Amino acid sequence: MAELHLGQVMVYQGDPLVEGPEVVSVLRHGALLIADGKISVIGEASDLRAAHPQAQITDHGDHLLSPGFIDAHVHYPQTAIIASWGKRLIDWLNTYTFPEEMRFGDPDYATEVAGRYLDLALSNGTTSACSYCTIHPASVDAIFEAAQARGMRMLAGKTCMDRNAPEGLRDTAKTAYDQSAALLARWHGVDRLGYVITPRFSPTSSPEQLSALGALWAEHPDCLMQTHLSEQVDEIEWVKSLYPKARDYLDTYESHGLLGENALYGHAIHLTPRESARIAETGAALIHCPTSNSFIGSGLFDWPARLAEGQRIGLATDTGGGSNFSMLRTMAAAYEVGQLTHQPLHPAQLWWLATQGSARALRIGDKVGALAVGMEADFIAVNLASTPVIAQRASRANDIWEAVFPTIMMGDDRAIAGVWIAGRKVGS
Ligand code: GUN
Ligand code: ZN
Repeated sequence: MAELHLGQVMVYQGDPLVEGPEVVSVLRHGALLIADGKISVIGEASDLRAAHPQAQITDHGDHLLSPGFIDAHVHYPQTAIIASWGKRLIDWLNTYTFPEEMRFGDPDYATEVAGRYLDLALSNGTTSACSYCTIHPASVDAIFEAAQARGMRMLAGKTCMDRNAPEGLRDTAKTAYDQSAALLARWHGVDRLGYVITPRFSPTSSPEQLSALGALWAEHPDCLMQTHLSEQVDEIEWVKSLYPKARDYLDTYESHGLLGENALYGHAIHLTPRESARIAETGAALIHCPTSNSFIGSGLFDWPARLAEGQRIGLATDTGGGSNFSMLRTMAAAYEVGQLTHQPLHPAQLWWLATQGSARALRIGDKVGALAVGMEADFIAVNLASTPVIAQRASRANDIWEAVFPTIMMGDDRAIAGVWIAGRKVGS
């Protein structure tokens, strides 16, 4: 039977980063009709109630009905080491990350953390994510099996490394290619799952490994390819010494077949003019990870420059380099980075980034990340008065954005009143 959800409904009519915040609106007394896991009608509550008298009604009151959040870059195997103190990128990887990723050689541990990660993500309103795994193929199986069991749209790939990583956490150019190809064949396009070709970053791959993964991507150009780019200054210097002939960091990918419209570059903080121009030209996406960039001390994403270039940008937690699972907290951090770079982002732009912006970066924006007819019904009900401090500020709001912004800045999983995956309520 069709289900009718009543509430304040968030609607996108364009890209607010390009066209301005006015293209995002909220139907004060709106409704979504859900049938067969998809949104079949959207409109005013009174109209939909009259037109669909048989539908089962859930009235969410003043809660905001929003697309589920989409986390465009996360490391699910780092769930257990989130909030590890005191290191910058390379030391943080060696001290905390690599020892933890080593544990994923045990498939039972991978299964345990994959389930825990997805449950944490869902409780924070995140209905889709694009995750790195570890070098172990079983770590990819674990996250896809867990996402499949929950009916989620999920993207993930085996993280490939053949140098500058400890024994036990290295593959080779050949095994990276073979294992990635086998996982791609097993999972890509199955249910709501997509495989992502995943060289970790240039310092942990030999040129041969990057070439092998470039060749795999050329055979499967519809797959996404994710990696890290220009996150910290020391890292960039290291890349220069490892790839002396490369024009810049991006060129280490470009010259091995790892630049294209389906590429995702995490962080992309310290870009040269050539790099940002090439990324814009090819239509690759930049994934902004603001809590991580502060937490690991990486730097400020250059919002004014990237917007002026018209880059495609997704938003992400980068858990566990990122310090929070919540895309609300991530929006707040993006806002603060915007302020520090003199680009105050409007709440409509922040919300869009965490939903449709990330979905477009991941090339799934025609399926999820917006409430519109025909879209898959992954949505959340957001309580805009979830704590006393948020409630007292929202009660003074003069418009919907003043009501939403306190939840962006101060909200967390307590604001997530309900989560639906393909129309089915999570946890019931
Ligand atoms: N660069 C290479 N690997 C990683 C990682 O796991 N996290 C972050 N933040 N940056 C990286
Ligand atoms: Zn990352």
